Amino acid sequence: MMLGLLVAISAVACFESSYADAVSITTVTVPYHNYYVLAADRPWDPTWVNRVEIRCEYTISPAPATPPTITWLRGTFADREVVYKWSSSGEVYVHPEFAGRVSVESRTRPTLVLFNERTWVDRYWCRVTNEEQPDEFGTDEESCGFWYVGIGYNLPKLLATVHLDKTPVHVDAGGTVQLNCTGVPDGRMATIFWVKGPSCTQGGSCDSYETVIHKSSGWGETETITVSPNFAGRVSLATRGVSITPTLTITDIRPRDAGRYWCSINYPDDRYSSSFGRWNRGAQSVVILVNDPVTEPTCADKADGKYQHPADCAQFYTCSGGLSYGTNTCPAGLVFNQDLQLCDWANNVICL
Ligand SMILES: *[C@@H]1O[C@H](CO)[C@@H](O)[C@H](O)[C@H]1NC(C)=O
Repeated sequence: MMLGLLVAISAVACFESSYADAVSITTVTVPYHNYYVLAADRPWDPTWVNRVEIRCEYTISPAPATPPTITWLRGTFADREVVYKWSSSGEVYVHPEFAGRVSVESRTRPTLVLFNERTWVDRYWCRVTNEEQPDEFGTDEESCGFWYVGIGYNLPKLLATVHLDKTPVHVDAGGTVQLNCTGVPDGRMATIFWVKGPSCTQGGSCDSYETVIHKSSGWGETETITVSPNFAGRVSLATRGVSITPTLTITDIRPRDAGRYWCSINYPDDRYSSSFGRWNRGAQSVVILVNDPVTEPTCADKADGKYQHPADCAQFYTCSGGLSYGTNTCPAGLVFNQDLQLCDWANNVICL
């Protein structure tokens, strides 16, 4: 392994690279994410088949060498279970309840095909994880509602929809970013929240999100807004007239603000009889990349050798005779181990 890593170092071209260029970003699109697929029972029609398709498309840029993991989940953003998982290794898991009645078209077009699904209402999430970048940059998902009706059409009311431009946003440290999330007819009545993540826990599940801001529904009550301590005094929701909208502004951007932000809204089902209940909760995400103006480290008074970059431990700079011979970036996923003078796995290295 050591030899392989040494070879990898010498193969790295000598060019300057910012952290923003080093990440690979996954973007998932469920084409009808603001609507629902309908299975309407037609008992009088012998040709009728209960079969629904939920389309899902994705891009990963730059593309990884290994195929991504495709996961379809059902439930709400905060409470989901895996229906189908096609791992990077090729292994397929199917939830026992769906045995024999679920398939995924292909790894490149991961449309979900479901047979005989008779749950009254549900929401299905298409998640794509780039296993070479399994963090919030490399994991995205989108969802679509599912509505099953028996005899007679009784279509759902009041869908909470979100629209977010998913183009990654570049912002300088210290700058301001406005994430335009729209689609709410009246923000006063909706619950609005933005979360950041996912981050992975030690147990290996990547389902942990930080609530950046949360606004409760104001129907008959006072709206309350809660903000994460990491964003205290730096985030706000835009207003339109008397209504609060889901558009989020973050000021005084810090390098650790880089990541994936999810806009999500909901209507309280008891007040609004939205029919979709807690499943009326779509979400869309956008990635923020922070350009941190890095001050170049100096080689003055330093012994010859390679040094971990103070701003990004995935980079190192080379000193010889008190002069700098430039900055290099370790291969994806590795960080610079100053003791061993090579790029190494992150858990072997302390970022100085
Ligand atoms: C959001 O909208 C404002 C005003 O139109 C615009 O200046 C800003 O660039 C938009 N934000 C993004 C991330 O596109």
